[in-house]
This record gives sequence, structure tokens and C-alpha cells, in this order.
Amino acid sequence: MKITTIILAAGKGTRMCSELPKVLHKIANKPLLQHVYDMSSQLENNSIKIVIGHCAQLVTETLKDLPVSWIEQKQQLGTGHAVQQVSDQIADTDTVLILYGDVPLLKLATVKQLLSNVNDQSLALLTVNLENPNGYGRIVRNAEGKVTKIVEQKDASASEKLITEGNTGILAVQGDKLKQWLTQLGNNNAQGEYYLTDVIEMAVENGVTIVTSQAETEDEVLGVNDRIQLSHLERVYQQQQARSLMEQGVTLIDPARFDLRGSIESLGQDIEIDINVILEGKNRIGNNVKIGANTQIKNATIGDNVEIFANCVIENAVIGDNSRIGPFARLRPDAVLANDVHIGNFVEIKKSTVGLGSKINHLSYIGDSTIGSKVNIGAGTITCNYDGVNKFRTIIEDGAFIGSDTQLVAPVTVGKNATIGAGSTITRDCPENQLTLSRGKQFTLSGWQRPVKQEKL
Ligand code: UD1
Ligand code: CA
Repeated sequence: MKITTIILAAGKGTRMCSELPKVLHKIANKPLLQHVYDMSSQLENNSIKIVIGHCAQLVTETLKDLPVSWIEQKQQLGTGHAVQQVSDQIADTDTVLILYGDVPLLKLATVKQLLSNVNDQSLALLTVNLENPNGYGRIVRNAEGKVTKIVEQKDASASEKLITEGNTGILAVQGDKLKQWLTQLGNNNAQGEYYLTDVIEMAVENGVTIVTSQAETEDEVLGVNDRIQLSHLERVYQQQQARSLMEQGVTLIDPARFDLRGSIESLGQDIEIDINVILEGKNRIGNNVKIGANTQIKNATIGDNVEIFANCVIENAVIGDNSRIGPFARLRPDAVLANDVHIGNFVEIKKSTVGLGSKINHLSYIGDSTIGSKVNIGAGTITCNYDGVNKFRTIIEDGAFIGSDTQLVAPVTVGKNATIGAGSTITRDCPENQLTLSRGKQFTLSGWQRPVKQEKL
């Protein structure tokens, strides 16, 4: 079966009260429209066409990498009018699938089932049974229970308004039939719009059967119209992801306080994640990893037996096996830590490699540096990597010991097993195996007296 998917995404989304077109608003940091695309792109033999209108240019620019055809609907004259814009690109023998760009949680399995209901005598329609069908088109059935038409809320009679089976808007039908019906759409209705839903009645008149199916949950077919619905679907999506991670063996201390805005490409065993952890981008996490509360991780590769304590921010970094990070540590892009590394509180590492078993435990800035193995960096060490214009590298070789409160003015190299005395400002290379320090000499002034404050009378 060859499929043409048409995603309707031309609407403005007035109730979002936003400069941004609705379909670019995000769930899990991904535009609504991208969610719909990602799901439908998993269908084989599928060519995807997206109808855009409001802020069309912004939509295509933002999602320019999607391999789809963009079709502009200059005026939004209704869902039927939107599909008409694509009519000449639909092959007669294609199965046409209609999706909405603002219905982000629709599942592939639901769509596959819908598609399996299409043949040359039937149109497949996804409906939803609602407690409160307000706002939805209603599915009208005859005495035998067969669908005869869809009536929009604004056109519905009092008795039709009582129908609780709603139209999701999602349907599938053969190309030649749809194209023929599209030419017959009128706009003589309460909203003066060309309703796609009118094809249902035409289908029935042509002897085509309407086969209905339902999604698993109402949330799956829920469209986003305002920011309240957006936040609702964000939580639903996050709960689904949390569930799936727990099913794969991850302990989430509280699944309601976990957010994945991206993916975990490789997932080890016995991972424990405390509350308020946010994972973004593409991550890889090894076995026996513990992630403390309030930690934000983006595009990280985390080895086995790693413990990340609370309140860390980690981005584009690699953490080797058996390492310990934080609390309150920041690993910035291109921080690459070997195995058995300890990074403690208030330590920032950027564009640096840290070798096997090295420790940077307190209050340090390490930028543009190459640090060997078994290096100990004392509290308050700063690599002065920037002269205001250029950046320079600091090299600290294996086994070096850097005393506390040292500034290493790059470019500079500290040799193997060198020791730097505390409080030094190092501006030249330090030889191997020796103690180097630069420090004002300590002295005591004898006979000095502290000034005394005169008591006010
Ligand atoms: C539509 C259905 C209604 C269904 C409801 C489900 C029609 C006539 N009505 O109503 O039966 O219960 O969805 O949410 O189809 N769009 C365009 N161009 C347009 C108009 C709309 O691309 O000219 C797009 C919108 O961006 C949106 C989708 O089509 O993604 C649905 O449009 P919307 O205005 O929300 O339709 P409803 O009136 O809610
Ligand atoms: Ca809608």
C-alpha cells in the first residue's frame, strides 16, 4: 500500500495567545508538528505533505530538515479547503491519511489499525467516546449503528449535540475517492467553511462504508488549542516516557518529577534517578548509575558505576566508569573524563580532558586543559585560559599535585609528578618531580599595634 499522509497545520491557534504558530509550540522540547511527523515517518511507503498557512515561512525554516513537501494554504477556509490544496498531488491508488499537526501523541499502532480498515469499499475514521464532547464534530449513526455523517458542533441540532462519539479528524481513504469528493465540498454551514467532515456523507451516498476505530486513550487524540492543553499533554507524554523507562529497569524515585526531553540511546541496568532530573538531547547511560536530585543532563555519555550527586549541570560531556560528580558541579561542552575521576562541588570543567583517577574536588575552574592521570587539583585552582581575546591551553601531566588556590596562567605545562605550592600564580612551565611555588614571603611585624577605636563620650 502506498500512503500519502497529509498533515493539517495551517491554523493560527488563536487561543495560544502567541507570536509562534501553534504547531511550533513544544512538548518535551520538540515542536508539536515534529511529533506528528516522527510518528508518521515510521509508516513504510509513505510520502508526507504538510499544509501550512499561518507563519508558513517560520514553520518551514524551523523544520527545514524534514523530508516532506510543504503546501501553503494562503487563507484558512476550513479543513476541507486545506486538503483541497494537496488534491493534485494525490495519486488515485494512494491511501490518503489525514493527520493534524496539533495532535502530538497519536500512536503508530492506532494509525496502523486505521489504515488496515481502508479498502475500495470503505473509509476509515478514528472516533473518540467522550464524557464531554463539547467542541467536537459528532458522529451520527443510523438505526443499524452505521455512520451516516459528521455534524459539526455549531451545525448540530439539540439531539445531535447529545451524541458523545466525537470526530478526531483523523481518517484514511483511497485517493481517487477523496479527490472526487473534495471537488463537491461547499461552505454553506454555520462557520462558512469547507468542512472535510462533509466527505463522510458523500462516501455513504456513494455506497462506501465508514469503518470506525478508536484510540486507546482520549489524550492520544487530543489536540492542543491552548497552553493548558499543552501542559496537560506534556505531563501525559512525560508519564509515558517515565513508565517506559521503569519497564526497562530504571528506578525513578518519583516518576511525576522526571523529564526526558530527548532520548536515552543506550540504557544500562540498575539506573536510579532521583527527583527533578531533566535529561535533554541524546544521552547514553551505563550500568549502576545514580543521578541525584535537581540535576540537568544534556547530550551526555555516562559510564558504569557513576554517581552524580544533586544539583549538577552536565552538557555535551563524557563521564568515565566509576566516576563521582558533584554535588553542584558543572560539566560544560567537551569535558571528557576518564574512569575513576572525582569532580566535587563548585567545580566547572570546559573543553578539557581529565585522566584516569584524577581528582578535582572543590571550587575550581578547569578550561581548555589536558589533565593526566592521578592528578590532584587542590581547592580553588583556576586555569586562566583567556586573555580577553585568545584562549590558551593548560597541560598538567600525570601524577602532578596542584596546591590550593593556584592560578595557572595558560599557555603553561606542569610536568609529571610536579608539585605546585598552594597560593601560586604559575606563569611558566613547571619541571617534573619538583616543587614549584610563587608566593609572597610570610613575615611578622614585631611591635605592631592594632589601632584602637575611641569610645564616644
Ligand atoms: C475539526 C473537525 C471536527 C473535529 C475536530 C477535532 C472539521 C470541519 N471539523 O474541528 O469534526 O471534532 O477537528 O479536533 O474538520 N486547519 C488547516 N486549515 C484550515 C482549517 C484548519 O490547516 O483552513 C488545520 C488546523 O491547523 C488544525 C486542524 O486543521 O490542525 C483542525 O482545525 P480546527 O480549526 O482545530 O478544527 P475544529 O474546528 O476543531
Ligand atoms: Ca481543534
